[in-house]
Amino acid sequence: MANLLVLGTQWGDEGKGKIVDLLTPAFDIVARYQGGHNAGHTVWVNGKKVVLHLIPSGILHPGKTCVIGNGLVVSPGALFREIEDLEARGVAVDGGRIVISRNAHLIMPYHPVMEKISEEGRGEKKIGTTCRGIGPAYEDKAARWGVRAGDLLDLSVLREKIRENLEVKNRLFAVYGIAPLDAGKIYEEYAGYASRMAPYIRDISLFLNEEMKEGKRVLFEGAQGVLLDLDHGTYPFVTSSSSTAGGVCTGLGIGPKSIHSILGITKAYTTRVGSGPFPTELADEKGKKLAARGDEFGATTGRPRRCGWFDALAVRYACRVNGIDRIALTKPDVLEEMDEVRICTAYSYKGEVLKSFPAEPWVLEKAVPVYKTMPGWRDSVHRAREYASLPAAFKDYVREIEDLIETRVGLVSTGVERDDTILIESELTGLIDTSSLKLGERK
Ligand code: GDP
Ligand code: IMO
Ligand code: MG
Repeated sequence: MANLLVLGTQWGDEGKGKIVDLLTPAFDIVARYQGGHNAGHTVWVNGKKVVLHLIPSGILHPGKTCVIGNGLVVSPGALFREIEDLEARGVAVDGGRIVISRNAHLIMPYHPVMEKISEEGRGEKKIGTTCRGIGPAYEDKAARWGVRAGDLLDLSVLREKIRENLEVKNRLFAVYGIAPLDAGKIYEEYAGYASRMAPYIRDISLFLNEEMKEGKRVLFEGAQGVLLDLDHGTYPFVTSSSSTAGGVCTGLGIGPKSIHSILGITKAYTTRVGSGPFPTELADEKGKKLAARGDEFGATTGRPRRCGWFDALAVRYACRVNGIDRIALTKPDVLEEMDEVRICTAYSYKGEVLKSFPAEPWVLEKAVPVYKTMPGWRDSVHRAREYASLPAAFKDYVREIEDLIETRVGLVSTGVERDDTILIESELTGLIDTSSLKLGERK
């Protein structure tokens, strides 16, 4: 019951940042295991909004250590911008509060250029990436061309790696009529980051395992969501890392037995940014209303998020792939004032009824959702603090979802602030050390 994994069960933006921030007091360390500054994790504290991209969402709690694991791709420029932004807000990030794996790969200036070539090459089938160089940085990692954080500790290694990379990349750029990049300039920029970054760089596997041996508790923070996972998501419309539970072990250098429980973050409806199939998407006024009420604009790129009904097949799939113990249900307040709400319980595909989530995007594109329609709730859920006070129609919605996804809800988020949360004691006891958190009961 010591360590908890928090991950997204849909296409990202489920509210992971809010929940990680909320639960951080029960932990000593918050560790990210994958992704990069494609993530945008929003935390509101006392009416002030902070969006975290690379730094774990536990950073707003003084004294907690935040880990950037080897499974991430790190843009040093983005990292220092984020650190400066936090410092300007009065958040102390020094004193060993941020630690970065020496095996984390660096996003280099040629990665966004490679991404542009790749996205343009796909034409209408483009993925709609965040254009942060994430995919090409992971490509270089898999192709064994990557520059890692540890390479900043020996400038001759850094210089040579940049030279070798540009020899190959500039040949590719020439084919596309793109001006070559200057190895010397990139070296100067990254050598400048080296001395700033060096104090943060460590052997994270060693650090985490030693801390855990001493009884320190770790909250593992996922970015993106299960349906954006490289293996288990709606490939090829996914990100390039392992956002699922398996990514925690490879992304931090810990054994699977160190993950004691798993909390899946689930929006009470569904959203997606970028391209790719989305069976329950509402391309009509209802979808626009959800987007407006839910303020559904990407926290990283500002792009409008596509909105649709809750997809129980997708979330049941996420629960299975990750072995999720409990769900944190977020943003039900956005559904308020709807006369009726819908839950997708199956797909109809070429005359067949599909009851489990298909992996192929061409199936998903043609899959027609089979809906269960339920009465909406007129009474407010927004900022509710007690389960008992929630409208009966909403409680029925929760029960229906639980039955369909075969997983219980342990927490309901009712607004953006920390206090706008109902932690359900009977569902969380044994999963999280709840002594430092305010708990309610489900009636
Ligand atoms: P993340 O990427 O999973 O951390 O999620 P994002 O921060 O990208 O998007 C979630 C958005 O929903 C943020 O703007 C949050 O402030 C907001 N949010 C989180 N929980 C709730 C909730 O229960 N109700 C409402 N209305 N907004 C919420
Ligand atoms: P958080 O952590 C939502 C999407 C992009 C695109 C695809 C690939 O805030 O939930 P990439 O730049 O990663 O190669 O883009 O993945 N995407 C996200 N969508 N939330 C995110 O992160 C996302 N990170 C990437 O929109 O469709
Ligand atoms: Mg987000």
